[in-house]
Amino acid sequence: MPLKPAFVAKSISFGHNFLRVLWGDGARSLYPASWLRVSVRDSAYFEPNSLLYRPEHIEFAAKQLPLVDAKLRDDGGAVQLSWNDHATEYDASWLRAQDGGEASVAVKPPSERVLWDGSARIPTFNYAERETRKLEWMTALKNYGLVYIEDTPTTREGLLDVLHLIGVVKQRYHPDDVYVVESLRKEIRAKVDFSYGGDYLNPHTDTSTYLPPTRLDCFLGQIYDAPVRDTTNFFVDGYRVMADMRREHPGAFDVLTSVPARGGRRRLTVEEDCTPEELKRYHWDTLIESPYVVLNDDGSVKWVQFAWTKRAGFSFWKYDDETLARHNVAYELLHRMMRDERYHARVVFRPGVLAIFDNWRLTHGRHGVHPTTRRRMLGAFMSEDIWRSRWRLIHAEQSGLEGKWLYGCTDEALEILAGRNE
Ligand SMILES: [Fe+2]
Repeated sequence: MPLKPAFVAKSISFGHNFLRVLWGDGARSLYPASWLRVSVRDSAYFEPNSLLYRPEHIEFAAKQLPLVDAKLRDDGGAVQLSWNDHATEYDASWLRAQDGGEASVAVKPPSERVLWDGSARIPTFNYAERETRKLEWMTALKNYGLVYIEDTPTTREGLLDVLHLIGVVKQRYHPDDVYVVESLRKEIRAKVDFSYGGDYLNPHTDTSTYLPPTRLDCFLGQIYDAPVRDTTNFFVDGYRVMADMRREHPGAFDVLTSVPARGGRRRLTVEEDCTPEELKRYHWDTLIESPYVVLNDDGSVKWVQFAWTKRAGFSFWKYDDETLARHNVAYELLHRMMRDERYHARVVFRPGVLAIFDNWRLTHGRHGVHPTTRRRMLGAFMSEDIWRSRWRLIHAEQSGLEGKWLYGCTDEALEILAGRNE
């Protein structure tokens, strides 16, 4: 497949400490020679099978020698550079994708992130399409933070069949990786988590006392028998809620994103049957301190950590009473917004309905369960690293580039390289 003009070098020039490239789309890039030297990828310094640098690379990168020659390959697809101690080649597409400055604007894929409310149609796929439409449902998950996969076999294996297309699930601190959600016996409920009762369950973030919280979360309907009234779960787009709060209540947004607050969890029992010796292994007492809403460097929301059961106060001596009062009021506002039904995407977890969702972005809750209802769901978590790796690997594969050029790229560079062909 031919390359888009943006990924073909039209002409180059160089000085002792820089390389300049004019690209086929008219954009220009300037690369410092020290960066080129430390990024060398030939087999003298970089092992092409294991994709790791050799120890000789340390000394090579530290040596400050002037560039003595630069040549453009005839097809514009590579640049050859020489120092007095070494000559090497750089892939042109790779060079273009590394430049995150002005030149990146023309090649950046458009952001398809959708902020939604209760009127949105959530992307829905079928279990039979899990492999053939993998990139589509993962992209939908990225853009909406939520995807439904219907007709999933209602077993642990069915759940893992889908999740393993992303990667391994997260090891929980409980006895099992796949967990069971159902109304618990009263005596256990009181000790484990009263939210597993049958009352309205406030929207919340799962694993909110981990830092960061687990990235992906999922529920699979396994048993559902509701003779009197449906049990409805709902999801809330936390990015949408925070966008509205930033616009309408900037003071509340400011205090929730800047004041670190504590989250704690102390749990001495689990749902599963355990011997007293086993149970000790799962004892859990943790504390984090972080703003409940964490921002990225560019000011966008990174994650929302909202779990009203796990508030554990502040390092109060660092703040005045007014700030803490503002924080408490802002938290109540966040709670009210999360409960507002116009933000709720509703779903009934009938057998085979699988929801995979971004637990950094979405909160989830449930309406009351009628006492005659029998209902069971399976759930599992996946870490940010695993989800991000799969996203990177899928885009890397699409680019068709050699592994040595895919190594070490930013997520953005990998998405740019995935679109380098016509
Ligand atoms: Fe939950």
